[in-house]
Amino acid sequence: MDNPVSEYKKIPYYRPTGKELEIFDKVWQNRLPLLLKGPTGSGKSRFVEHISSIKNIRMITVSCHEETSATDLIGRFIIKGAETVWIDGPLTEAVKTGAILYLDEVAEARPDVIVAIILSQTIVGNCI
Ligand SMILES: Nc1ncnc2c1ncn2[C@@H]1O[C@H](COP(=O)(O)OP(=O)(O)OP(=O)(O)O)[C@@H](O)[C@H]1O
Ligand SMILES: [Mg+2]
Repeated sequence: MDNPVSEYKKIPYYRPTGKELEIFDKVWQNRLPLLLKGPTGSGKSRFVEHISSIKNIRMITVSCHEETSATDLIGRFIIKGAETVWIDGPLTEAVKTGAILYLDEVAEARPDVIVAIILSQTIVGNCI
């Protein structure tokens, strides 16, 4: 017999402060990146967690810093034994699987990251 408790999915609570849910829908439908801007504690991360949960879209979070480059997001070749193997970065994985890529503190990242973002369908967060 199914256990209703194990089926219960906890949705992170988010109280909209404007039309952000409607804006997200349009952005997602049109495969556009979304920039979330606001002071600390204003609910940017919570908003994305909430959206990910209610829409059942996997969320991949990357905490950006001053060394974060486009390569870190797209992926790179690595040497494995005698072979060269391609490893997908989080952006490539998100594009391939249809996940939300949440780039926390993206303003800290290197400028080439913006090019990678424009070339993909991503959600960008925390550019204060
Ligand atoms: N609109 C909201 N609805 C529900 N909870 C909220 C909302 N805004 C903020 N909170 C509460 O404030 C806490 C902090 O929000 P959150 O971590 O999303 O902020 P943030 O904008 O991502 O901040 P930071 O810039 O520091 O990363 C959340 O864990 C949540 O409890
Ligand atoms: Mg946050």
